[in-house]
Amino acid sequence: MSREPKIIERIYEQFAPFYNLVYGKLLFQEGREAAIDFLDIKPKNKVLEVGVGTGLSLPIYPKDCQVVGVDLSHSMLKRAEALIAQKRLKNAKVAFMDATHLKYPDNSFDRVLGNLFISATTFPKESLLEMKRVCKPNGIIVLMNHFKSEHPVLGAAEEALNPLALSLGFKSNLEMEPLLASAGLKAKQVQKVNMFNLWTVVSMVNKK
Ligand SMILES: C[S@@+](CC[C@H](N)C(=O)[O-])C[C@H]1O[C@@H](n2cnc3c(N)ncnc32)[C@H](O)[C@@H]1O
Repeated sequence: MSREPKIIERIYEQFAPFYNLVYGKLLFQEGREAAIDFLDIKPKNKVLEVGVGTGLSLPIYPKDCQVVGVDLSHSMLKRAEALIAQKRLKNAKVAFMDATHLKYPDNSFDRVLGNLFISATTFPKESLLEMKRVCKPNGIIVLMNHFKSEHPVLGAAEEALNPLALSLGFKSNLEMEPLLASAGLKAKQVQKVNMFNLWTVVSMVNKK
């Protein structure tokens, strides 16, 4: 059974009409492109994108892979479906699904991605464990996200700003290394992206 969506998840249902204005190409497309580069997608690969939102990454995927994007917000997914139709993306589809209870058997995907997702859920560890479960052994998992800075002053500011960030639909104090370790994953490649390099793209090889 799915968990009850918490406040942070419910925000996106209301926010969907304005989402692309705030989280659109101008501020975040560099990170979305880097994340898809990090996935190192091969022809015919099956790719899962968790927390796909309005689908802004879907047009960037290579056309010879099959992508399914899942999300917990109907209004975000409605926009992703419109984008798929408008851009005639034959390799992409979306589905309503909770990242903490993915309806796929173990080892279903070659690649699994979460863009700006892992700090937008109340359950980052549970979601990452599910991403790992459905990813094949030696498959690649990538996250593009803002993580808490290791710099003491910046880190303290991000802690202080967390209540404000939560009201905008994300946590500003999620730590990367402890999160990866909690799911038994290790960073392989790491790159800073987006405005002021405040976001990170991290890839992990799924050693099962
Ligand atoms: C900041 S948006 C990112 C959307 C998209 N990946 C992008 O790059 O623009 C976070 C998304 O995660 C979704 N989300 C949050 N919790 C979720 C969960 N448990 N399962 C699936 N999607 C979830 C939200 O509905 C929202 O669409």
